[in-house]
Amino acid sequence: MAKNPLRVLVTGAAGQIGYALVPMIARGIMLGPDQPVILHMLDIEPAAEALNGVKMELIDAAFPLLKGVVATTDVVEACKDVNIAVMVGGFPRKEGMERKDVMSKNVSIYKAQASALEKHAAPNCKVLVVANPANTNALILKEFAPSIPAKNITCLTRLDHNRAMGQISERLKVHVSDVKNVIIWGNHSSTQYPDVNHATVTTSKGEKPVREAVADDNWLNTEFITTVQQRGAAIIKARKLSSALSAASSACDHIRDWVLGTPKGTWVSMGVYSDGSYGIPEGLIYSFPVTCEKGEWSIVKGLKVDEFSRAKMDATAEELAEEKTLAYSCLN
Ligand code: NAD
Ligand code: LMR
Repeated sequence: MAKNPLRVLVTGAAGQIGYALVPMIARGIMLGPDQPVILHMLDIEPAAEALNGVKMELIDAAFPLLKGVVATTDVVEACKDVNIAVMVGGFPRKEGMERKDVMSKNVSIYKAQASALEKHAAPNCKVLVVANPANTNALILKEFAPSIPAKNITCLTRLDHNRAMGQISERLKVHVSDVKNVIIWGNHSSTQYPDVNHATVTTSKGEKPVREAVADDNWLNTEFITTVQQRGAAIIKARKLSSALSAASSACDHIRDWVLGTPKGTWVSMGVYSDGSYGIPEGLIYSFPVTCEKGEWSIVKGLKVDEFSRAKMDATAEELAEEKTLAYSCLN
């Protein structure tokens, strides 16, 4: 029997990530090839004409799974009955800025849109915040939408996770799908900690730890980490625009795995509300390794954390605590 359509909200849909993301959703890349969708696209008044242009293109592309398009600048109409909300709306950083430099512009958007989602989205709506500073925007959304369960509000660190796998695959000259179980701990910022201590690679001789396969701890503990931490800045430098196709694709990966489940024996990284696991304070949206089943994520427990990792995991948690204070000062 044909499935009922799911309503998927994309905010900032006239922007560059939005333009890459909406056709992926309409093609079934986010929710599967048998899941019809109705796209809700929100942007602000100055982008209304461009947004309508995106709607025209969606119609012209004749996507079999796309059962309807709502293109609006009205946040209430945009949020009405949505099952999935991908929050991309906001301002991107420019060359030379840190992601938290866009804080004052973006957190107020998340405070305002929290209430609309809380009041008008479908019960159990799953929320993914992409706009930067992603963890702190997600936290503000959570705090100003207290009736949405904390477990339903997440932020995107899957792009960093995919970048880490990409760097290992380039180094080992293996396909990226042969690398698994890297972890991004913490903030989607330059303090994030890409950790390969539990990652493996599959070669013709079977599965082995990434550390053993790379056989260069110095590279793994220095250049690999900074390359992943600074990849967003490197893309901005090269394109004069921040990442878009990789961000859109990773957002699809995030929602797909959350809704449809992670493959057996594999975890992914998601920014989620900390329950105190690994000594990370509650009250922060922090990226952890998670597995997903039946539409629910759970933090992978019991991984061994060495001294090097501990220091890096704590440093990125401290930055998130500082961002939280800064966010509240911007809202006051
Ligand atoms: P963009 O400027 O091309 O698009 C953003 C869109 O948001 C614009 O169309 C703008 O009009 C719209 N917008 C602004 N305020 C809004 C509001 N209140 N409601 C709805 N829409 C609003 O930017 P982009 O390159 O698409 O990036 C979007 C965001 O995603 C930025 O904050 C960027 O830093 C972030 N980002 C995050 C990741 C990640 O991995 N978490 C990756 C890439 C980009
Ligand atoms: C990214 O990681 O590419 C995005 O967060 C954009 C940025 O500002 O780095």
